Amino acid sequence: MLLFWVLEFALAVFACEPTGDTDAASRNDCYRKDCDGTVYDIQEATCCENKLHPGASLSCCGNEPYNPETATCCKHNLTASVTQDLSEKVSKCCDLKAYNPVNEICCQSTIISKPGPMAECCGKDVFDKDKQLCCGPADNKTILVRNSRHHECCGHSQYDTETQCCCSNEEKLEIQSKDSSCCVKNFTPGVQKQITELQPNCTEPNTHLCGSSCYNPKESQCCERNQKPHWFCASGVSKTTPTVYNPRTQVCCNGCVSAWKPWIDQCCGETPYGSAQRGVLCCNKTLYEDRDDGEECSEMGIPYNPAKGTICCSQFHGSPGQHCCGTEIYRPHAEICCNGHRHLKSENIYCCGVKAYNIKDPQMKCCAGTLYNLTSLDEHGGDAQCCGSILQKPQDICCSSEDKEVLYSAKTGFRCCGHFYYNTTLWSCCAGRLRSIHEAGQDQRKMIKESRLLSVNNLNKANLCKVYIGAVESVSLQSVVFTNVLKVYGMEAKVKALPLPYVLETNDRCSYPKLIPGKTYFFNKDNIFTGFINDSFLQSLHFIISECSPRITTHRKSTNMPFAY
Ligand SMILES: *[C@@H]1O[C@H](CO)[C@@H](O)[C@H](O)[C@H]1NC(C)=O
Ligand SMILES: *[C@@H]1O[C@H](CO)[C@@H](O)[C@H](O)[C@H]1NC(C)=O
Ligand SMILES: *[C@@H]1O[C@H](CO)[C@@H](O)[C@H](O)[C@H]1NC(C)=O
Ligand SMILES: *[C@@H]1O[C@H](CO)[C@@H](O)[C@H](O)[C@H]1NC(C)=O
Ligand SMILES: *[C@@H]1O[C@H](CO)[C@@H](O)[C@H](O)[C@H]1NC(C)=O
Ligand SMILES: *[C@@H]1O[C@H](CO)[C@@H](O)[C@H](O)[C@H]1NC(C)=O
Ligand SMILES: *[C@@H]1O[C@H](CO)[C@@H](O)[C@H](O)[C@H]1NC(C)=O
Repeated sequence: MLLFWVLEFALAVFACEPTGDTDAASRNDCYRKDCDGTVYDIQEATCCENKLHPGASLSCCGNEPYNPETATCCKHNLTASVTQDLSEKVSKCCDLKAYNPVNEICCQSTIISKPGPMAECCGKDVFDKDKQLCCGPADNKTILVRNSRHHECCGHSQYDTETQCCCSNEEKLEIQSKDSSCCVKNFTPGVQKQITELQPNCTEPNTHLCGSSCYNPKESQCCERNQKPHWFCASGVSKTTPTVYNPRTQVCCNGCVSAWKPWIDQCCGETPYGSAQRGVLCCNKTLYEDRDDGEECSEMGIPYNPAKGTICCSQFHGSPGQHCCGTEIYRPHAEICCNGHRHLKSENIYCCGVKAYNIKDPQMKCCAGTLYNLTSLDEHGGDAQCCGSILQKPQDICCSSEDKEVLYSAKTGFRCCGHFYYNTTLWSCCAGRLRSIHEAGQDQRKMIKESRLLSVNNLNKANLCKVYIGAVESVSLQSVVFTNVLKVYGMEAKVKALPLPYVLETNDRCSYPKLIPGKTYFFNKDNIFTGFINDSFLQSLHFIISECSPRITTHRKSTNMPFAY
C-alpha cells in the first residue's frame, strides 16, 4: 500500500515537466555555450554551424558570421547571403540583397530607387502613387500619368471617379458617365463576413465554459494558465486549453492537474508539493528532492549549501561566502569584474563589455561595450566617434534616435532623420520624423535640417565638461522646459542644482530631435544629448566626471568635433 502511494506520488510530481527555457539556461551558465565541444562565452565569440568565430555581438547568416550593426542577412530559397554596409536594424531584403526601404523599393526581385515618397510596385517597375496609376490585369500592367486625384484605373485606362464609373460589360471594362444605366445597376454593396467562434453553448447544469468544454462549478473548477499560449503537462502533452478538475481529489498547479495528497499545500511551477515535506526545495519553479538541511536556492535558482561553498553561475566553489564574477570567485579589493571576466584593479580602470581599460588612455575608446584600440587604426584616431558598438570611419555617417544608433555609408544628397538616412529629394525631416516632399506649399529650407540625438559618449571635452541635466517637462515650437535641472561642472567634479526650471530656446524646432516629456536629457545652450544608449543615467554622470576631472594628468587629445553635421 505504502509502496503504491510513493509510486503514485512520484508520478504526480514528475508528470508535469517544466518547459525547457534556453534563455534561463544560458544565464545560469554565465553566457557560456558549447560549440562542437568547445565551451565559449557568447559575449566573445559566435558559433555558426559548429564553427567558432571570435567577435562580440555577431550573428550567423548560414555558416557565415556577420555584425547586424553594419550588415544584413537575407535568406531566400534555402540560401543565405550577407549584404555589408547596411544595418539589419533598418533594412529589408529583396531576395538575397538588402536595401534601405526609406529610399528604395523591391519590385519582383529588383531594387529600384523610389521616384517619390509614395512609390509602389507596378509589376517589375515602380510608380509614384501621387502622380501615377498602375492599371491593367496583374500580368499586364501599364503605368499612366494620373490625370487628377480623382482618377482611378479601369482596365488599361483611367477614369474620373467624380463623373464616371467603370462598369463590366460581358467581361469587358468600360468607362461610362455616372448617370448611364450601366453605372446605376452595377453598384453592389460590400459582402459582410461574420466570424463565428466554434464554441459550445454551455447549458444547465454544465453552465460554465472551460476551454472547449462545459462544467458544473459546484463539482469542478477550471484549471487555467495565465501567460504562455502553450505548455506541457502530464507526460509531455502540450496544452493550449484549460482543463476541468475536481478540487477534492485533484490539484491544479499552473495549468497542470495532478492527484491531490493530504500533505500537498504548494505549487512549485507545475509540480505540487508540501511545505512540510523533508528534503524538498523549490528553486525558481523547479522542485528539487533529497536535498540536505541548510540548503538554499542560489541567485541562479539552483539549490546549494551556503555554509559549504559559493555557487557562481551553476559552478560550485568550496569556499563559502565569496563574491562571484561569472563562473569564478573574485576578490573585489584587488580585481574588477566586467560582465563575468576578472581583471586586476588599478586607477582609472573601467569595464568595457568583458574587457577592462584605462579611461584616461586617449588611445582607447569604448563603444557600447566594445573596446577599440585607436593606435592600431589610422592617424585619425583622435576624432574617433562611436556609433552604437561600432567605431565610425570618416566615410561613415551615424544616425541616431532615442533608442537606436545606425551606421550608414555617407552619400551626397542624403541626411539623418533620427536613425533613418534619407534621400533629400524624397523626404524632409522634422524633429526626428520623416515627411514626404510634395511639390507645393512647404517651406523646404525650414524642414530640411536634420535632427539626430547625439550621445554623451561622443561629445568633445568642451561640451562634455559643462553640461546641464534635466527632465523634459514641456515642448513648444520655440522652446523646451526642463525641470529638476542640475548643472555639472565636470572639471571640478561639482554638481549644482538650479532652483527654477530651465527654458531652452529652440528657434528651429525641426532641427531638434524628438523629445519625450518626463525623460532626462543632457543639454547645453545649443543642443540636447542622450546618455549612453540603454545605459543608466548614473553611469553617464559617472563617465562625465571621470573624463573631465583632472586628477590624473594624462591629456585627452582635444577634438573640436561639432556635435551635429
Ligand atoms: C527560388 O526557387 C524558385 C522555385 O523553387 C525558383 O523559381 C527561383 O528561381 C529561385 N530563386 C532564386 C533566386 O534562386
Ligand atoms: C534620390 O531620389 C531621387 C528621386 O527618386 C533619385 O533620382 C536619386 O537617384 C536618388 N539618389 C540616390 C543617390 O539614390
Ligand atoms: C497588354 O495590354 C496591352 C494594352 O495596354 C495590349 O495591347 C497587349 O496585347 C497586352 N498584352 C498581353 C500579353 O496581354
Ligand atoms: C450558440 O448560441 C448562439 C446564439 O445563442 C448561436 O448563434 C450559435 O450557433 C450556438 N453555437 C453552437 C455551437 O451551438
Ligand atoms: C527562473 O526561471 C525563469 C524561466 O524558467 C527565468 O526567466 C528566470 O530568469 C529564472 N530566474 C533566475 C533567478 O534564474
Ligand atoms: C594598442 O595598440 C598598440 C599598437 O598595436 C599597442 O602598443 C598598445 O599596447 C595597445 N594598447 C592597449 C591598451 O592594449
Ligand atoms: C535598448 O533597449 C531597447 C528596449 O529597452 C531594446 O529594444 C534595444 O534593442 C536596446 N538596444 C541595444 C543597443 O541594446
